[in-house]
Amino acid sequence: MDPTPAEVSPSCERLPGRAAHAGVNRSTENLFSSELISGSGLAFHEAERLLGLVTGADRSTVVGGMAVDHALASRFRALVARRRAGEPLQYLEGTVQFGPIELEVDDRVLIPRPETEQLWERVMALLPAQSCRVVDIGTGSGCLALAIKHERPDIHVVATDISSDALDLALGNARRLMLDIEFREGDGLAALEPSTIGSVAAIVTNPPYVAEADWAGLPIDVKEHEPKSALVMGNGLGDGLDMYRHLGSEASRWLAPSGVLVAEIGELQGSDITRLFHGGGWEANVERDWSGRDRFLLAWMER
Ligand SMILES: C[S@@+](CC[C@H](N)C(=O)[O-])C[C@H]1O[C@@H](n2cnc3c(N)ncnc32)[C@H](O)[C@@H]1O
Repeated sequence: MDPTPAEVSPSCERLPGRAAHAGVNRSTENLFSSELISGSGLAFHEAERLLGLVTGADRSTVVGGMAVDHALASRFRALVARRRAGEPLQYLEGTVQFGPIELEVDDRVLIPRPETEQLWERVMALLPAQSCRVVDIGTGSGCLALAIKHERPDIHVVATDISSDALDLALGNARRLMLDIEFREGDGLAALEPSTIGSVAAIVTNPPYVAEADWAGLPIDVKEHEPKSALVMGNGLGDGLDMYRHLGSEASRWLAPSGVLVAEIGELQGSDITRLFHGGGWEANVERDWSGRDRFLLAWMER
């Protein structure tokens, strides 16, 4: 089990700096934090975070220099070995910051990405001033749904996922954050309550958009640790466009007259996805992320 700050041993001794290390009695067998970090083979910021996790010490203490006893050092090394084998840092830490909220994450869900925070910011800017209904399809950790509810407690937020494991984790996050949202399990829009057809102010989604053929080429951290079902749609054509196809044909009837669909997309999918939102009354734009890549679809019904 991953160590948590609650398990911190009282034997982490703060040292004033590297000079003080020379004075440490080696017979205590304590190790020095900087040596553990530099000997880890990890990037400095990752090693320093893992050592902070194990010792419960804050960043300045870990970086500034502290003695670490052998039990904690071996727990640190165990985490380092897992990280070096490709396990994502966020799973080892167990939490991730998403906009204003901290979420627990594990290998049941995708680790929320910075691009998705940009998606959340876009959604927040598009929401009507009055109370309304917002739906997050494929909620994973609950990041989008919970961050929306955190900022707009007046909104009724519905979070769906096809994975009951993901929903369990998202529900835990909602409880911990004391945010009251509705969770529904199911495939795409079929998860929604039919009586809410025509009433949704915003459908938000970061769906699985990796093509089956591209899966093998993903980095090992992703491919061997994050759930494949969060990245590649399980049923459909396997070209990464299945959820957009589904939303292009079904989402309009769920939206309120001034409703909007906001979706994350793969950077090379903009033109294919826009085509799926041509006709049937849709208007659609693809927008770029901070680094200039096509990453977001905005779609709404002609008014
Ligand atoms: C890319 S992850 C996004 C998770 C989270 N919204 C985020 O942005 O970090 C996609 C999510 O969609 C879910 N999913 C996959 N297929 C689905 C489907 N057919 N209907 C609903 N959810 C689905 C996965 O279980 C996963 O949690």
